[in-house]
This record gives sequence, C-alpha cells and structure tokens, in this order.
Amino acid sequence: MSAIHQNVSTSLSASTSTFLAHNNLKSLKPSHVSVAGRLSAVVKCVATPSAEKTGASFLSLFNHFSILTVGAAFDEAYNTNVARNENLAKLQAGYLFPEIARRRNAHIAKNPDAKVISLGIGDTTEPIPEVITSAMSKRSEVLSTVSGYSGYGAEQGEQKLRAAIASTYYSGLGIEENDIFVSDGAKSDISRLQVLFGSNVTMAVQDPSYPVNILCFILFLLASLLSAANELLYRAYVDSSVILGQTGLFQKDVEKYANIEYMRCTPENGFFPDLSTVGRTDIIFFCSPNNPTGSAASREQLTKLVQFAKENGSIIVYDSAYAMYVSDDSPRSIFEIPGAKEVALEVSSFSKYAGFTGVRLGWTAIPKELHYSDGFPVAKDFNRIVCTCFNGASNIAQAGGLACVSPEGIKAMHEVVGFYKENTAIIVDTFDSLGFKVYGGKNAPYVWVHFPGRSSWDVFSEILEKTHVVTTPGSGFGPGGEGFVRVSAFGHRENVLEACRRFKELYK
Ligand SMILES: Cc1ncc(COP(=O)(O)O)c(C=O)c1O
Repeated sequence: MSAIHQNVSTSLSASTSTFLAHNNLKSLKPSHVSVAGRLSAVVKCVATPSAEKTGASFLSLFNHFSILTVGAAFDEAYNTNVARNENLAKLQAGYLFPEIARRRNAHIAKNPDAKVISLGIGDTTEPIPEVITSAMSKRSEVLSTVSGYSGYGAEQGEQKLRAAIASTYYSGLGIEENDIFVSDGAKSDISRLQVLFGSNVTMAVQDPSYPVNILCFILFLLASLLSAANELLYRAYVDSSVILGQTGLFQKDVEKYANIEYMRCTPENGFFPDLSTVGRTDIIFFCSPNNPTGSAASREQLTKLVQFAKENGSIIVYDSAYAMYVSDDSPRSIFEIPGAKEVALEVSSFSKYAGFTGVRLGWTAIPKELHYSDGFPVAKDFNRIVCTCFNGASNIAQAGGLACVSPEGIKAMHEVVGFYKENTAIIVDTFDSLGFKVYGGKNAPYVWVHFPGRSSWDVFSEILEKTHVVTTPGSGFGPGGEGFVRVSAFGHRENVLEACRRFKELYK
C-alpha cells in the first residue's frame, strides 16, 4: 500500500466510519474524535433556527462538542430541517411484528434445541444449474481481459438478451425485443413503474396478495430464522403506491389503505375477483399464478380482466413471476389474451426459475400498443424512467440470463421448477390426506391450506409450537387471507419431508 493510500484510508476510517456510525458515538474515546473534522458537522446539527436567533447556538455547539470530546453519552439526537416524506409516514409498522416477535420469542425460549424448518419464506433453496453459473463465470473471467472488458451497458439490457426473452416467453404474442426492459428483478421494476405512474393514479390489488404489514413480518422471520429470504415483494404493490402518495391513510378498522381498491379473491370466487364489485382504478396489479393463494387465473378469467380494464381505460400491471410453474392450460402471459397489449404490461423474473433471488435479474415487457390517455406510448416514458433511475442489470447476471434462455438453460430451469413442484405435491398430499381443503400448488410453489373458522394466527402458532415449522398466516397477506395458512414449497427435500411428517403427527 502506498504511503498516500495508507494516509487516506487511515483518515477515512478515523473520521468517516465513526461519523457514520451514529450509535457508536456513545463509545467514542476523545482520541478517536477528529475535532477539526467534526466542527462543521456539529454546528449544522445543533443550531436550530430558534437557537440561532437567540444567540444560543454557540452554547449548544459547546455542549455537544464537550459531549463528543469527553466521550459521554450522545443522548440528545439532533434533527435536520428536512420534513419527513409524509407518504412514508403513512406506512404501517404493523401490529403483526410485535405479535410474531412475542410468539417466536416464547417458542425459542421454550425450545432452544428445536430444529426449526421454514416453509414460510418464498426464497429459493436449490443451487443454480451449472449451465447457468458457468456462463456467469465465463463472463466474469472475460471481464479481466482488455479485449473482453465492458463497463456500463444499455440501461434497457443487452440486445441479445432482450431478443432471447422476447422469443422465449412471448413467441407469437407480438412482443418484440425492444418491448423488453431487462432489470435487476421484478420488485425493482414495480417500484420504477410506480415512479412512472406518479402520485395521481388510483390502484387496485388482489386481496390476499400484498399486505401492508408484511414488511415487518418478513423482517421478523428473517431475523428470527437467519434466513436470507427476500419476500418483501409482498408489500411492493401496496407500499410503493403508498410511498408515491397514491393512497390515503391506513384505516385500522378494516386494515386497508384509503384509495386502494382491494379485490377479494376467495375459494368461493375461484380466487378471481368479482369484477362487478370492483371500482374503477387507473392501475390494476394482478399476479398470476398468485402468491400467496397459488391459484392461476384461467383464460376466461383473464379475458374478463382485460375487458374490464378496457371498459375502464385502466392499465393492468401483470406479475407473471411464477409463469413457468403453470402446468395446465392457464395463460403464462397476459399477452395470450386478445387485446391485452392495449391495456397491460408484464413484469417477470428469473428469481423463481433459476434460483436468481440473489443474482437479481428480471424484466418488464411493455407493448407499443399501450398508450396513455393523450396517446403517448407508455414504453417511451418507461424507457425514460429506466434511463434516469437505473444503470442496467449486472453484465454477469445478464450472461446468466442468456444461459437461462438457451435450450439447455430452459431445460435446467424446468428441472428446478419441477423439483419445487414435487415438493408442492408432497405438501398438497399431506394436507389432503389429513382432510384439509387445499388450494394452489398445481401452478405455483405455494399451497394455501384452509382452516375454516380458525384464526390464521392461531394456526400459525399451533404449527410453530407443535412442529417447529414456520408457515405464513394467511391474514398476513390481507384480510382476505384470514382462515388460511400458506405453505411454501421452497425447501430442501429432506426438510419438506420432515415438515410433512410433523404435520401428519400434529393433525392425524
Ligand atoms: C409475485 C412475485 N413476483 C415477483 C417476485 C420476484 O421478485 P424479484 O424478481 O424481485 O426477485 C416474487 C418473489 O417473491 C413474487 O412473489
């Protein structure tokens, strides 16, 4: 390391890291504090407008300076003059979090040696097929050569990959390579879409689907089970909409945000909303095959949805992240429905096909036929958003994506999907044999088990306490999920078998 480099890193670690680590201020020793470096920051922090007017700022500065230099507790937090985004303040911390924390803590305290199995999180567990990882390795190796190095790529993704996604997933559907925007995943695209639509649109979501409180719930599970799962997408539709200011306040009595149309999906309506009761909104988020119910909408149902959107002049944001799990003749893309290209766009992802939850690669397909009320093409604005907010998906991930959609990659992805579908079948058979009404599973890696008349939280706790298996209480996905528990098929086979053995023991 050169002398200059060494000096720079020493001063950076002595000032920057301690400064950024706010909580560490309590433990700072005088020798660690770079006085000169801190003075300006301290002045900014403590000089409130009123203090400045009364000439008290110097006193205040002195007090804080003393605190820093003697290493005493930094009790008095300082506030900037920046107002909090009021939309973020609307987001619900949720009562689920403390409730789950209470149950989890009690469980672990009672059973410190229990082998807890998680079938609650929608993160993949099986390795990425070798044909895909080897393509990523090759690409990364080439990056260390002068001739093979490449830096920023096109924000929309590499042309070859866009073309391959179009021909693999939308062959014959009129979606072309330039309609595909490659991304770092469906969740990021959903946020970009919210930025695209702005704060003045109204939106509808399936209920159950993306509950307001799931963030805390999932974070809790992550923390408690040390799982690397990322299922925050549950909240992506609703929370990103709240953040953009599209909604009103959260209404505690009904557990819904004002200005969001919640489309109830139950066994009675075949998990497809009764559209005659759904009010008009600008945007309709629709996920099929669905997370959490595991159901896939039929061609007839999606035809109704497209007609409904057309009558209302709405745009459907169709989430097809589980399309490769479809094993009957349910559409794999909304664009299979005639007329859909005028009212829909589609987000999708390699996450659940190739185990790319960590690699991060997805895409959004926006047909040229999709226009705003003034006739402007939606894709042109999305292109603008992508170029403004995103610098393109990782080139290594895109090499993996290209391998995914090669003939060997497609075969390998089908094997991965097939493995999880076998897990699904094991779970479905287990609950079936125990006499439960089981939904989903056929076209999705989620099994939606009905416990009629029971609180899904009680069932969640019962299962956790008696089998040490973590599931997901249905009401965590919205009021429409009450009475259900979602069991995820993402898991190693031995864990799924063991969990099912425990379920049988509990409910025999
Ligand atoms: C409905 C749905 N869409 C998409 C995704 C994947 O999102 P990403 O591509 O950001 O991993 C998930 C993951 O849980 C999901 O449940």
